[in-house]
Amino acid sequence: MTRPMFPRIQLIPHHTPLEPLERLSHHLGGPSIYVKRDDLTALGGGGNKVRKLEYLVADAIEQGADTLVTIGGIQSNHVRQTAAAAAKIGLSCVAILEDAVERKHPEYLFSGNVLLDRMFGAEIHRLERGEPTDDAIETILSAISHRGNKPYFIPVGGSTALGALGYVTAASELARQLDDHEIENATIVLPTGSAGTHAGLLAGLAELGRFEEVIGIAVSADRTTKENLVQRLVEETLSLLSSVQKPDPSRIRVEDGYVGPGYGLPTDKMEEAVQLTARLEGLPLDPVYTGKAMAGLIDLVTRGELTANDNIIFLHTGGSPALFAYPDLF
Ligand SMILES: Cc1ncc(COP(=O)(O)O)c(C=O)c1O
Repeated sequence: MTRPMFPRIQLIPHHTPLEPLERLSHHLGGPSIYVKRDDLTALGGGGNKVRKLEYLVADAIEQGADTLVTIGGIQSNHVRQTAAAAAKIGLSCVAILEDAVERKHPEYLFSGNVLLDRMFGAEIHRLERGEPTDDAIETILSAISHRGNKPYFIPVGGSTALGALGYVTAASELARQLDDHEIENATIVLPTGSAGTHAGLLAGLAELGRFEEVIGIAVSADRTTKENLVQRLVEETLSLLSSVQKPDPSRIRVEDGYVGPGYGLPTDKMEEAVQLTARLEGLPLDPVYTGKAMAGLIDLVTRGELTANDNIIFLHTGGSPALFAYPDLF
């Protein structure tokens, strides 16, 4: 069967680096830890969503849209990267921001990602806490159409099968780097939110016939909810690719012990992980996603689940602009 081709627009100028974290590896007693720097996807401050947007924005253009519309929390990295992509390509962007996290500091409400959204020219609609999102999305989409523009809606996190193709592509890039560095039997650790990154990576590895273990660290909800979400998106992504591969449920693993009181709410382990990585490696993480994922990685090593013989790849999905929304923590 011929593989379908998907329009893609290049937003990332080159491969993101794979780098050793030698001081962190030594501090934790031996496993070789590397970081895949998807925080360096460049556009608009970088992060994992730029990879998804390469496919989503191309689809928007193909459909003749002139306005990207998306939704996320007040400090959404996805919204910030969508606003930057719109600016770069010459489209408009409408950002719908949900009040999803119980934080009322002025920095949380107006700095970090949301400051960048404004800078990139996004038109911002803030929803009240608890306001039904589906109704708001519909109203905003029809208002955009009424004023003569053509909206293209990108769901939370860009986590559709089309968006997940960004991480199918990333899986090939990472696989080449692992081979070049002769890193065998790697275990990949990443944050899992709306799950497009996790699912795209698993679908991409399946397509390549590779068996690196992938461990998602949940940033919200529980293990079963997240694993079901990953499973569904792997299925949809492989089906979009007309793949002969079948999703293998035994390859789907999410750990949910690092969420703490909830999405976007700090934990002691997250704060320690962010501080440690900053001080040992000069590497900024973020309080919502990569900080919790690194807390999970450190705990898995400390508990002996990942050992000195393991090669661990930490997928840095970006997000450090959100640090400026949590100045009370660091
Ligand atoms: C920095 C960062 N890491 C990880 C994620 C989670 O990625 P996904 O939604 O694809 O699971 C996000 C999503 O917003 C993010 O902003």
